[in-house]
Amino acid sequence: MKRARLKVLGNEQIGPYFLIRVGCGALDPGCPGQFFMLEAPGRVLPRPMSVCLAPAGELAFLIDPIGPGTRALCALEPGDAIHVLGPLGHGFRLDVERPLLVGGGIGIAPLPFVSERLGAPPALLGFRSEWHAEAAALIPNAEVVIEPTYVTEAMPAGHDVLACGPEPMLETVRALSPDAQLAWEAPMACGYGACYGCAVEIGGELKRLCVEGPVLAAA
Ligand SMILES: Cc1cc2nc3c(=O)[nH]c(=O)nc-3n(C[C@H](O)[C@H](O)[C@H](O)COP(=O)(O)OP(=O)(O)OC[C@H]3O[C@@H](n4cnc5c(N)ncnc54)[C@H](O)[C@@H]3O)c2cc1C
Ligand code: FES
Repeated sequence: MKRARLKVLGNEQIGPYFLIRVGCGALDPGCPGQFFMLEAPGRVLPRPMSVCLAPAGELAFLIDPIGPGTRALCALEPGDAIHVLGPLGHGFRLDVERPLLVGGGIGIAPLPFVSERLGAPPALLGFRSEWHAEAAALIPNAEVVIEPTYVTEAMPAGHDVLACGPEPMLETVRALSPDAQLAWEAPMACGYGACYGCAVEIGGELKRLCVEGPVLAAA
């Protein structure tokens, strides 16, 4: 884990989301499913963002502008600089035999990096609209479903599922595929175990999601 000031190389709108590319030099991008804390301009607390892509010397984050922090990040322009801290948390285990990537909405953010590391396995992605579904172009070999059909209605059996998406989607994936790996979200203030802001109940005990997760075994 390192804190670094990185230069913004690009900002491309994809549907309602923004793909922010930063130069990371020799900074370790970590494993798919890990995240960085990004300091949004003008905001006190950094915001957690999954690594979306990590080509040589770069990190890319796919961001949904839903509030003040994410809107400030989505307004970054090439040449701006931001502080980042990471890589943080536990990512996906990649030693799986029949991977299927399952993503919902902005939950697809970590999947391009997973797909790249696993050699483009099949993916099933669910979105609210065709506009949101433009982001599916970031993931090869993907089948897309649009609401009112839910991604979990189209999920085939017999796969090692790696999933990220809204909580109700993850709960359904867990019920359908008890061996799945699920990337969860909780509000995070520090990202490395110091504030207990992300404490969630896991197996009857309170655990810090930024330390134990964000990827957890469904079981
Ligand atoms: C490990 C991890 C990885 C993430 N990766 C991405 C990513 O790749 N792309 C992306 O766009 N977003 C990602 N998020 C979510 C993102 O961090 C939050 O949307 C962001 O912090 C909201 O900040 P804001 O100031 O824009 O909005 P706020 O005003 O802080 O929040 C807007 C609304 O979202 C709720 N909220 C805020 N943060 C979270 C959260 N973490 N979980 C659930 N609800 C929340 C708030 O209660 C509020 O209702 C990730 C979150 C985690 C924990
Ligand atoms: S975000 Fe501070 S302990 Fe997890």
